[in-house]
Formats: sequence, C-alpha cells, structure tokens
Amino acid sequence: MTKRIALLGATGSIGAQALEIVDANPDLEVCALASGAKSLDALADARGVEHVQVGGDLRTLLDVVEPDVVLNAVVGFAGVGATLWALERGVTLALANKESLVAAGDLAVAAWGRGGGLLLPVDSEHSAAFQCLEGRARETVASLVLTASGGPFRNRTLDELVSVSVDEALAHPTWSMGPKITVDSATLANKGLELLEAHYLFGLPYERIEVVVHPSSVVHALVKFRDGAALAHLGYPDMRVPISYALTYPERRSTPVPELDLASGLTLEFEAPDPERFPLLPLAREAGERGGTFPCAFNAANEVAVSAFLAGRIGFLDIASLVEEALAESDGAPVRDLDELREVDATTRRVAESRLALV
Ligand SMILES: NC(=O)c1ccc[n+]([C@@H]2O[C@H](COP(=O)([O-])OP(=O)(O)OC[C@H]3O[C@@H](n4cnc5c(N)ncnc54)[C@H](OP(=O)(O)O)[C@@H]3O)[C@@H](O)[C@H]2O)c1
Repeated sequence: MTKRIALLGATGSIGAQALEIVDANPDLEVCALASGAKSLDALADARGVEHVQVGGDLRTLLDVVEPDVVLNAVVGFAGVGATLWALERGVTLALANKESLVAAGDLAVAAWGRGGGLLLPVDSEHSAAFQCLEGRARETVASLVLTASGGPFRNRTLDELVSVSVDEALAHPTWSMGPKITVDSATLANKGLELLEAHYLFGLPYERIEVVVHPSSVVHALVKFRDGAALAHLGYPDMRVPISYALTYPERRSTPVPELDLASGLTLEFEAPDPERFPLLPLAREAGERGGTFPCAFNAANEVAVSAFLAGRIGFLDIASLVEEALAESDGAPVRDLDELREVDATTRRVAESRLALV
C-alpha cells in the first residue's frame, strides 16, 4: 500500500534528503509540500504534487490532504501546529522538528495520548534511542545517553569563543545541516533541545537522561540497563538512515549509506560536556526540570538569539546570555492550548528582542 507523505520543510536539508528516500522507495509518495518562503513550484511540477503551501498555517494544508504520514522537517516553533495536528488525529508523525516537541511538550504528549498514533523520531539520536528502547520496559532502563559531536568549538577556550565568526560556527565537523541547527550544535543548545525532546518522547525523567560528547558521531545513542548491560546504536552520521527508518517503519529498508567499517581504525571517544563554555546545555536541563512553559521560553529565546547571531548582531557567547535573561523573565506557567502557547512564545520573543536592542 502506498504511504502518502506530507513533507513539511521540503526546501530544507532534511526535506531534500527525505525526497531522496521517497524516490528510492516506490511505495512512498509525497502528497503535499510546504516551505516557509521559498517557491515550491519546480518541486511540485517535477513530482506532480498538487497540494503546496508556502508559509501560513500548516494545519490548513493537512486538513485538505489528510496524509498517512506527516514528515515535520520545518525549522523552529513554526512546526508546532503540524506536530499537534498529527498527534491529535493519530496520524503517523515522523518528527525532525524537535523545537515543536520542546516548546509544546505537555500539549504534545496529551494529544499523542488521545490520538494514539505513531510518533517516530527523525532526529538521529532519538531514532537511535527509539530502536534501543523498543520493547523494553521503562523500569529496566537505568539511563539514556545522548551523544553530542561537541561541534566546531569543542576545543576552543572561553576567551576564544568571544570572537568566533558565523562562518566558523557554520562549519560543523560531522553533520551537514541547516543553519539554525548548525549554530545550535556549536553552542550545544541542540543537545539541550534533544534532552527535552527525549524526555517527552520516551517518558524518562531528566535525571535518567545523560549527555556525553562523542566527536566522531558514530554512536548516536546508548541505553544503560539496570543489569549493567548497555545497548548502543552505531552508524556513520547520515540523516538518510533515520529518515528512511521513520518513513518505512516498521521495516528497515536499504539506503545508499556505506556499511560501518570497523577494521578501518574506528575509535570511540567520549568526554563530559563543559557547562562553563557551553551553558545552554545546563540551561536547557534546568528549563526542562522546572517544566511548564520554561522549555517553550528556552526555545523562543534561543531562536531569536541564533537569528541575531547569524545576522551578525551579537557574538557567539551572547546567545546563551540572551536565553538566560529571557528565562529569568519568564514565569513558566503551564498553558492549556496552542493559542496560549503561541502567546508565551511571542512574549518571550519580545523580551529577547528588547534585550537584543541593548547588546
Ligand atoms: N539537518 C539535519 O541534519 C537535522 C538533523 C536532526 C534534526 N533536524 C531538525 O529538522 C528541522 C529542519 O532542519 P533543517 O536542517 O532541514 O533546516 P533548514 O535546512 O533550515 O530547512 C528548514 C525548512 O523549514 C521551512 N520553514 C521555515 N519556516 C517555515 C514555516 N513557517 N512554515 C513552513 N515551513 C517553514 C524552510 O522553508 P524555506 O526554505 O522556505 O525557508 C525549510 O524548508 C529542524 O527542527 C532541525 O532541528 C535537522
């Protein structure tokens, strides 16, 4: 049976790789395309896709096309509506857009419970964790370990981080990705977002989710069990693997990614992340532990700060300072629905923007 996929964020890095996977699997079909601003005409014409949307409310498009799978590869809070739409209806959600689960975690988990559908992570670490955890009772899990490459600034001193450039931040050592997530990887905010994402996806308390730096990005996640055993997921860093897994689940189809070559001198190094140089990771953990809308505020302030950094308005270390200041002004009060969440997101953005004016 053909799976009809709504590809949201079709013009991005994940979107392009998802199209490659669709092309390699005759039973996958794109029934709708969405982007934020870029034209989708050429893509839609080439594939005969009738339903396209540039900007606007993604739920309008989804209401019309009623896909079998929503692949949410939008960047940022803009993906929240689509995530909640799929979860509420029990439509399979292949989720790359981690920001939506971070910002709307409680609403999303409640909607998922009501809808009862599949939520398949596309984020490589979460896809890996999903596979290690599948079929395991949560009480047997001692902890989930998420790996971080450490980004391009892993070996820079705090003094050096003051003046790193946008180009340097965009030169990720192991992954080729869109600009926002690449900067998030350099600050380790990405791993902070992933920590929160893992909490909501797998129902694990924060004290049972660890983060380690693993520069070669070969081990994507590792689960430690209470008997002392640990299961890890290994592979070369290539997003086509988790995208293919999510789109063809529960099957595991072949991809063009090379087999892991263990005899070529593969070394697996791990080290603890440094909270002094990369404070966004502990800030994200704190936001998660405080709960309510603190994660939403963390995400909103981080989005504003990353945009400002990319635009050359602030320095690299100002990203964390801005997020910390915006969190300090947030009350974190829980919300009941998407409209209230949007209000929290907008308010935090205003606070962060007003701070920006002072930098
Ligand atoms: N890239 C990776 O390897 C990777 C790995 C793990 C997780 N992720 C996650 O996947 C998501 C996408 O990342 P990416 O690297 O693919 O980003 P990207 O290359 O910047 O692409 C972002 C996509 O989102 C679209 N978009 C932006 N605002 C939108 C809106 N309001 N409505 C609809 N679409 C909108 C963009 O459209 P325009 O082109 O028109 O702006 C573009 O298609 C992020 O949440 C990221 O954290 C990415």
